[in-house]
Amino acid sequence: MNKPLKIFVTGGAGYIGSHCVKALGRAGHDVLVYDNLSTGHEWAVLAGRLVRGDLADIGPLKETLAAFRPDAVIHFAASIQVEESVRLPLQYYRNNVINSLNLLEAMSAAGVSRLIYSSTAAVYGIPQTIPADETAPLAPINPYGASKVMVERALADLAASSDFRYVALRYFNVAGADPEGLIGQAYRESTHLITRALKTAKGEFPKLMIYGTDYPTPDGTCIRDYIHVNDLAQAHVLALQYIMKNGKTATLNCGYGRGFSVREVVETARQITSIDFPVEETGRRAGDPPALIAESARLRSLTGWQPQYDDLPFIIRTAWDWEKKLP
Ligand code: UFG
Repeated sequence: MNKPLKIFVTGGAGYIGSHCVKALGRAGHDVLVYDNLSTGHEWAVLAGRLVRGDLADIGPLKETLAAFRPDAVIHFAASIQVEESVRLPLQYYRNNVINSLNLLEAMSAAGVSRLIYSSTAAVYGIPQTIPADETAPLAPINPYGASKVMVERALADLAASSDFRYVALRYFNVAGADPEGLIGQAYRESTHLITRALKTAKGEFPKLMIYGTDYPTPDGTCIRDYIHVNDLAQAHVLALQYIMKNGKTATLNCGYGRGFSVREVVETARQITSIDFPVEETGRRAGDPPALIAESARLRSLTGWQPQYDDLPFIIRTAWDWEKKLP
């Protein structure tokens, strides 16, 4: 049993954050969630306690951090939708970059020097090599990815100038829901493929749009590495152990190392739901790279991560069970 820690979790009421908070609670840690509830929900916080706050308000943020005195911070709070970032770039730079700088300043003022940061595969843009490892060039093709590169750079500079250390986890396509059934993706406006497909199966949308069938991939649709949200949550718990024990910075891809096309996801979703929901093939969506697959050997070797749910039908089944419960 590892020593219980005090962990400050931004965005812990959101989709990925809430699964991680549950895992942190199970691992015996004392959690304080800091969330403005813009996309998250109070009921999703299954461990620790929730303080409603916004990273844009640095005063209350500093006070809360100084009062809690955490051993480490996990920073989920961010805007995460690629297409939206293309339409609203300033919103993404403000929420993802400026607010992260606020958090780093508040951490520095409170003497907190360990961070787990939510980064993304979108930092690679269109990777030259597939699967992409962490040394692949950072060449984002949308404002979302660019905002995450900027913060990664700030983290590296801060680590070089002080005793601050971090683990940046670069998430590939996170999907599925906790099999115990109390939490899942609950952001109504989510545009993610699996969520959209299942909401279409449920009848919330008349049809699922397939964005682009002329990509240089075997079936012409984009390929992504879908990782179950609980496997990703576990990666955070292990990254925390790693940084507290070694005091070393690391950047780690989080994915399974294999990809599925949009058409394959649609077919699997039809099988799992037994609903032959309608799809329409349309043009490409702005900001989409053709294929993103993780080389995750570094995560496995540094932290001992062993995924439990590397199974697309299982991922979609847990998401479907959750989706059916949502009002
Ligand atoms: N897609 C459709 N129809 C939809 C929704 C999506 O065809 O209704 C396609 C997209 O065009 C894309 C693929 O399905 O080709 C996956 O799209 P998502 O919106 O589910 O996810 P993204 O790959 O765009 O982005 C997600 C996260 C990012 C992260 C990225 C990393 O939102 O935060 O995965 O791979 F950076």
